Amino acid sequence: MSLLLRVEQALSHHFDQAVGIGAPPRLVAAMRHAVFSGGARIRPQLCMAVAAACGDDAPELTHAAAVSLELMHCASLVHDDMPAFDNADTRRGHPSVHKAFSEPLALLAGDGLIVMAYRVMLQAGAQHPKRLLALMDNLTQGVGLPHGIVAGQAWECETSADLGQYQRAKTGALFVSATCAGALSCGHAPEPWASLGAYLGEAYQVADDIRDVIADAASLGKPVGQDALHARPSSAQALGLEGAIAHFDHLVEQAASSVPACSHRDMLRQLVQHEAERLVPKALCEGYFKDHASAIPARVRTPH
Ligand code: IPE
Ligand code: IPE
Ligand code: MG
Ligand code: MG
Repeated sequence: MSLLLRVEQALSHHFDQAVGIGAPPRLVAAMRHAVFSGGARIRPQLCMAVAAACGDDAPELTHAAAVSLELMHCASLVHDDMPAFDNADTRRGHPSVHKAFSEPLALLAGDGLIVMAYRVMLQAGAQHPKRLLALMDNLTQGVGLPHGIVAGQAWECETSADLGQYQRAKTGALFVSATCAGALSCGHAPEPWASLGAYLGEAYQVADDIRDVIADAASLGKPVGQDALHARPSSAQALGLEGAIAHFDHLVEQAASSVPACSHRDMLRQLVQHEAERLVPKALCEGYFKDHASAIPARVRTPH
């Protein structure tokens, strides 16, 4: 079974179980809309891929860890799109949750998903209490203070922010949680897997900044031009487009080289390279530089 299929099945199973019976139907519909609307599921796939490399001796715990990461991610997107943050009308090619269901329900849906993420972990971890504790702590680090998503989003409310610190918190931290969760769910030490998450996560945010400039809303399924519109710190603005693409390539190389020696090393490296091409496709860059009558940077001519 592909990693993606495993993720989708685990998400459906845990979501239905955690929602239970009798919750307010519009809240449940808003939460469903936030989760089952076509995300790439990279974080849970990464968690499962690392778990496979670590022997995956407790697959139910791995599934719960992967699901909890995706629920946290979806919650962060719901809140990120709200008028108080990015005021984005679309997400994953659909109306964002506050557009489809109202602002109060979007706020509550995000809150509900965060609590659901912890509940999914708690229910799956009873047979592995030591692993559960470590996984819960790992999740809080990806989401909370001082260096998780909440902190990352809050850097936007400061008068100045370090771009790398902002990106590592806003996006990188949950990727670190994802790779570490894969190891922790098997009772392995997380440290050897942290760099893979850190490099790939930072690359992901740099790619998001690049695509905010060169992609179109229809293909991304969300608005573009947001970083300039909201005066957000962005790699494209700080390094120029060419510089941002070079930085992205460098982070991807570092991510691939940081995969520890293990039986699944090739599979993990392929996952990294596949993501790199999906995120910043060669053809998209070529088209952009041609349209803007600029010399095509070397990386665009030499595929990864
Ligand atoms: C989007 O994340 C927001 C960032 C943190 C860059 P993804 O690109 O993983 O979004 P989905 O889950 O596939 O929609
Ligand atoms: C979103 O960051 C990252 C989160 C933690 C939610 P952005 O605002 O840059 O991402 P998109 O472009 O809306 O997906
Ligand atoms: Mg944002
Ligand atoms: Mg946004």
